[in-house]
Amino acid sequence: MLSIVIIGSGNVAHHLIKAISKSNKLEIKQVYARNKVNVIDVIDENKITNDVSQLKEADLYLISVSDAAVAEVSNKLMLENKLIAHTSGSLDMNVLDSKNRKGVFYPLQTFSKKKDVNFHEIPICLEAQNEKDYEVLETVAKNISNVVYSINSQQRKALHVSAVFVSNFVNHLYKIGNDICDENKIPFQILLPLIQETAQKINYLPPVAAQTGPAVRNDIEITQLHEAFLSDESQKKIYQLLTQSIQNNVKKL
Ligand SMILES: NC(=O)c1ccc[n+]([C@@H]2O[C@H](COP(=O)([O-])OP(=O)(O)OC[C@H]3O[C@@H](n4cnc5c(N)ncnc54)[C@H](OP(=O)(O)O)[C@@H]3O)[C@@H](O)[C@H]2O)c1
Repeated sequence: MLSIVIIGSGNVAHHLIKAISKSNKLEIKQVYARNKVNVIDVIDENKITNDVSQLKEADLYLISVSDAAVAEVSNKLMLENKLIAHTSGSLDMNVLDSKNRKGVFYPLQTFSKKKDVNFHEIPICLEAQNEKDYEVLETVAKNISNVVYSINSQQRKALHVSAVFVSNFVNHLYKIGNDICDENKIPFQILLPLIQETAQKINYLPPVAAQTGPAVRNDIEITQLHEAFLSDESQKKIYQLLTQSIQNNVKKL
């Protein structure tokens, strides 16, 4: 049985505590939370501490606090030569203090406390300084997920940028579509089957092959009509930039 201390009480900490608690091969030894009430709904009160000097012995310490606080929190830990991993997509493994062995345990998903997730489907990206520690991280990851990758800090940075494009930016484009629907008294729900089919399609086709629409067809008459329709300057710029980017790709093929 591998023992784990979770440091943090936010969105990711919440889901990690729930996922790890379900495994009979892993044990949540303790949770450190600045405000104990923030995790009281997912772990026994007697396992929560708000005193960093009271951390118990464990095989792995997972720091899941805001990116800006990871280095400071790892520095404050009164531990030596323990395996400490952070859960950030964008921070280098080396932000962790060198008095302990370093690792990364990055679950690639968007987490909110109030939205349940199926952890078994969530890719977990791992990195460690040595093989033995990697194996510990891998054992923990494989007990809560079926999708585990070895990803170094440089790759993780690239992965995070890629995730911003495919998730955060796509969601912002939904928002623009929603605004245009509202302005024209069209229910946004009418677009949901199209959104779902577009997302489903990339299970079968690479994105470049799945691309449709006036830009990839080089239908200049239609793209100009759309640009003229858009009165919002920011929407017009985004439309032009994305159209150009799609057309540049066509030229490269
Ligand atoms: N949310 C996601 O979708 C997601 C996905 C993958 C990875 N991550 C990564 O996971 C980590 C945690 O993200 P999150 O979304 O769970 O963050 P969050 O919900 O904003 O929670 C942040 C946590 O950090 C604690 N904290 C902040 N500053 C602290 C300090 N100086 N000392 C001690 N604790 C401190 C907060 O404590 P209080 O509650 O007391 O303020 C809170 O428990 C980040 O590295 C993030 O990049 C997030």
